[in-house]
Amino acid sequence: MPRVQVNGAEVHYRDAGHAASVVLLLHAFPLNGGMWAREIALLERRHRVIAPDYRGLGASAPSGQPSSLGALAEDVRALLAHLRVERAAVAGLSMGGYLAFELYRRAPALFRGLALCDTRAGPDTPEGKAARETFARSALEKGLGWVADEMIPKLLRPDADPLVVKEVRDLVRQGTPAGVAAAQRGMAERPDSTPTLAAIACPTLVVVGEDDALTPPAEAERMSRAVKGSKLVRVRRAAHLSNLENPQAFGAALSAFVDGLAA
Ligand code: MLT
Repeated sequence: MPRVQVNGAEVHYRDAGHAASVVLLLHAFPLNGGMWAREIALLERRHRVIAPDYRGLGASAPSGQPSSLGALAEDVRALLAHLRVERAAVAGLSMGGYLAFELYRRAPALFRGLALCDTRAGPDTPEGKAARETFARSALEKGLGWVADEMIPKLLRPDADPLVVKEVRDLVRQGTPAGVAAAQRGMAERPDSTPTLAAIACPTLVVVGEDDALTPPAEAERMSRAVKGSKLVRVRRAAHLSNLENPQAFGAALSAFVDGLAA
């Protein structure tokens, strides 16, 4: 996997396909760009697909600082500049959606289109922030096995395919406890993206797993109503990681969306 030193961070990323049209895939917490393997295989025939690992997750090194969405957005902008990419369709799932909002505020001209998947616009409550700090400390103390045990029941349906459960566990274990803690602390400080919704001026797709309890369908409906002209797709037989639980339905929705965007 290629890597680059940008913005004070070492960022590993996948870069597949050779088309002029670029799709940027932003992953969920506490996984990495490997969660997009099926979407990369599907889209790389017609698009160039770029999927980074955030600081301290996957193969990217932790930076020793909280992974603020601002820092991650600058990492992504520097990566795209390094790759000479000026325009992209951007899809973010959950934390990837938080990052897509931050990126949109900083670089709206980058966006040919935006897919907001299993995510939310609102910030954390004070209780939510405190829970993230507790989680961050436990992750540092107890390690990635604990992180996977805690997260998997929230990310997947109770009767999820055991192979998908294993895949998620493996993706979590590719990170570092420091990266997990830094991501939790960064997400706790993220701003309210609700005002951003009304400012989004590119074609937008909202995707949600029908059984997503972390960012439920009602949340996706609210976001979709607030983004002018956006389309909402519900993914059946899927919880929060809707792309991993129903890759056929998710891939069909995402590929139809990006294939239909202007260059
Ligand atoms: C994710 O899937 O990225 C996380 O659940 C997001 C969050 O913790 O808010």
